[in-house]
Amino acid sequence: MQLRSTERQLDCALALCFLALIPWGIPRARALDNGLAMTPTMGWLHWERFMCNLDCQEEPDSCISEQLFMQMAELMVSDGWKDAGYEYLCIDDCWMAPQRDSKGRLQADPQRFPGGIHRLANYVHSKGLKLGIYADVGNKTCAGFPGSFGYYDIDAQTFADWGVDLLKFDGCYCDSLQHLADGYKYMSSALNKTGRRIVYSCEWPLYMWPLEKPNYEEIRQYCNHWRSFADISDSWQSVKSILDWTSSHQERIVHVAGPGGWNDPDMLVIGNFGLSWDQQVTQMALWAIMAAPLFMSNDLRNISPQAKALLQHKDVIAINQDPLGKQGYQLRKVSNLELWERPLAGLAWAIAVINWQEIGGPRSYTISIVSLGRGVACNPACHITQLLPVKRELGFYEWTSELKIRINPTGTVLLRIEKKSHTSETLL
Ligand code: GLA
Repeated sequence: MQLRSTERQLDCALALCFLALIPWGIPRARALDNGLAMTPTMGWLHWERFMCNLDCQEEPDSCISEQLFMQMAELMVSDGWKDAGYEYLCIDDCWMAPQRDSKGRLQADPQRFPGGIHRLANYVHSKGLKLGIYADVGNKTCAGFPGSFGYYDIDAQTFADWGVDLLKFDGCYCDSLQHLADGYKYMSSALNKTGRRIVYSCEWPLYMWPLEKPNYEEIRQYCNHWRSFADISDSWQSVKSILDWTSSHQERIVHVAGPGGWNDPDMLVIGNFGLSWDQQVTQMALWAIMAAPLFMSNDLRNISPQAKALLQHKDVIAINQDPLGKQGYQLRKVSNLELWERPLAGLAWAIAVINWQEIGGPRSYTISIVSLGRGVACNPACHITQLLPVKRELGFYEWTSELKIRINPTGTVLLRIEKKSHTSETLL
């Protein structure tokens, strides 16, 4: 069922009343079974670093234009990002022209995207990458560009025709929870109906929280990932608030994550201006523990070798992409030190210890091995590798032993624990 372009003046409420009379059949309990995001999506997203810069006269290198995405696509291939797993090059808000075309379709701003999105998608595909785009469930995007309300089928089909591979669907300018839920559900099936495999990235729970607790089981049936918390910015305070929110809501959100559907704590801001080295380590380690989609928002034309090595760290990415697909959780917090753990395939575990203290120097923490991984991670013995801040083989540990680590202020030590039986231990 499509909404015609003549209805575009209707506001969200009026149009939903109209739609309520039509048996358009939102599937009630159908899972989003598009076979995508079996591990957390990895890529690049323009928002945090480039925001809504429309001024291509004054700032040709950082305005939202096809040139920016073409340059990023080239670098994603030439500088090893694609090989490390970053596959989706994603456009956020502010790509659109202020008006739809005569057929009611969204169109890219003709000055900033003279070749249009279809040609950009072809270019991105020619590099072996995938293209993501942004739209909004309500009447306008958050930056005020045309919203998809009343145009869900047209927009889904337009994106599919252009060769888009991911849709970030924002939730601004929708006036009720019902409209929000119906819109997110409708777009999910509209994307599926196009027959193109399009990752569906939602912000549905973020816009629900002020009014009602989200039903994450339901959201998982429609979305490949979903944002719950405020936008990230390039600051330690922001990263910290996301981690605090996640640990304080973990009973509600952790069990819902798994292949095909993930909690999204927002972009990686590593490689920008606001985080110290240790804080960047903390973001990378904890985004791996949280099984978070890894969307970098930085300038790949200008990034330090250290940030690049951290973002491309194979062992850390392997934890993020672990095929078991279970999200980690905070196990305990003791005097400003916090220990998180994540079960991995092959009975392995990832452990992260954060030092939240913002005064003084590195602090020691003694981990009693028996307490890790629900008591079984290291029973009867295990091999422990420190992955961050630097890779170091720590060797074999018995179930009853202890491990002493040192963590820099606002930094994190990330460990990988491989279980060893008595036999394998003796053989080694
Ligand atoms: C919202 C989203 C952000 C970004 C902006 C764009 O704030 O949460 O991630 O997409 O809109 O306007």
